[in-house]
Amino acid sequence: MTDTADLPLVFQVHAFACLQARPPGHPRGSCAERGAKALVERLQMRVDRERLAGVAVTVTGCMGFCQAGPLIVVYPQGLWYAPRTEADIDEIVDHHFKGGQAVERLAFLPRL
Ligand code: FES
Repeated sequence: MTDTADLPLVFQVHAFACLQARPPGHPRGSCAERGAKALVERLQMRVDRERLAGVAVTVTGCMGFCQAGPLIVVYPQGLWYAPRTEADIDEIVDHHFKGGQAVERLAFLPRL
């Protein structure tokens, strides 16, 4: 057995961004209904435009906490964010992805 901390990381930052959509009026709602598309596009644009080495963005389906969406979870820390604006996305990219500092004001702690 090998401690997971000793294994090499494929990406230094790997963000999973929910873009799940549901029909209008669905009781769970969705990240797409709450504006995720523009935020995901902004996130992908920033990472692509700046060619951020070691950073990957993967679009996902529902991660289970729809009422708090739009949601992004960033590994290896497993830190959840609930951004609301493109400026929030920029802050996550600038401070977390580029600076290695969590953006506490945008953090979301899922309750299991
Ligand atoms: S729809 Fe995004 S977490 Fe459920």
